[in-house]
Amino acid sequence: MKKIAVITGANRGLGLALTEALAQRGYKVLMAMRNPDKAQKTLNGLMMKGFDVVPMKLDVSQEKSINDFVETIKREYGFVDVLVNNAGILIDSEDGGNASVFKTKAATLQKSFATNTMGPFLLTQKIFPLMKQEGYGRIVNVSSSMAQLSEKQNASAAYRISKTALNMVTTLFASEVQGEDICVNSVSPGWVRTDMGGPNADRSVEQGIKGILWAATLPKGGPNGGFFRDGEPLGW
Ligand SMILES: NC(=O)c1ccc[n+]([C@@H]2O[C@H](COP(=O)([O-])OP(=O)(O)OC[C@H]3O[C@@H](n4cnc5c(N)ncnc54)[C@H](OP(=O)(O)O)[C@@H]3O)[C@@H](O)[C@H]2O)c1
Repeated sequence: MKKIAVITGANRGLGLALTEALAQRGYKVLMAMRNPDKAQKTLNGLMMKGFDVVPMKLDVSQEKSINDFVETIKREYGFVDVLVNNAGILIDSEDGGNASVFKTKAATLQKSFATNTMGPFLLTQKIFPLMKQEGYGRIVNVSSSMAQLSEKQNASAAYRISKTALNMVTTLFASEVQGEDICVNSVSPGWVRTDMGGPNADRSVEQGIKGILWAATLPKGGPNGGFFRDGEPLGW
């Protein structure tokens, strides 16, 4: 039977490239996005290539949207093999002051947390049992070197805090694996030329997704509860 992969924020950037890469490897990809209607051209392009992709509505910052999304998956498919929590926002610059920690607004922290941390937490909480039931799953939380506590960090507080917390989400769910072939890991894609990374980033989208794909397709006995870039351990 075909493996099913759920990718959040699948309409552009790393999420879209991941969709294509997993579809190419024979997965059915449930493309979770806020506005499937606006992605029609992208979807047509993928379908023309013969990829098995299904657009689905999901706003990861809204609990009801997550609940409706998971209910639809349970009803239509009943299982999920791969979950990539890829959707994310970096909005600290909206507070001005070169994203100084002294300028960070409460709303920026809340919005960043809702999308980058709470969304992946709730989605994993609801999809993990479907994986446990099948005895197989790969969960990848797309994190960032900006989350590393072991490195010196400054500015963009909301983004950094939300991604550090996301790494804890990884650790907590990884500890729930009890003998099943399930791997839950955080992956940093590096600095990538997407809308978020900007044109000056040092990595292409293809380079950025490499380590995410690695974690999404780990063989049995692969690492669980780690933080990686390009398949190599990264300091927390
Ligand atoms: N690019 C980098 O240099 C870099 C570095 C480290 C980590 N990352 C991480 O990599 C992931 C992907 O980033 P990217 O570079 O591909 O960024 P991007 O091009 O800005 O894409 C972000 C994606 O997230 C989606 N999204 C945002 N809020 C959402 C919500 N509430 N519900 C559902 N989808 C939502 C966006 O959808 P809309 O089109 O609806 O806005 C879009 O599809 C993020 O988690 C990011 O933090 C990126």
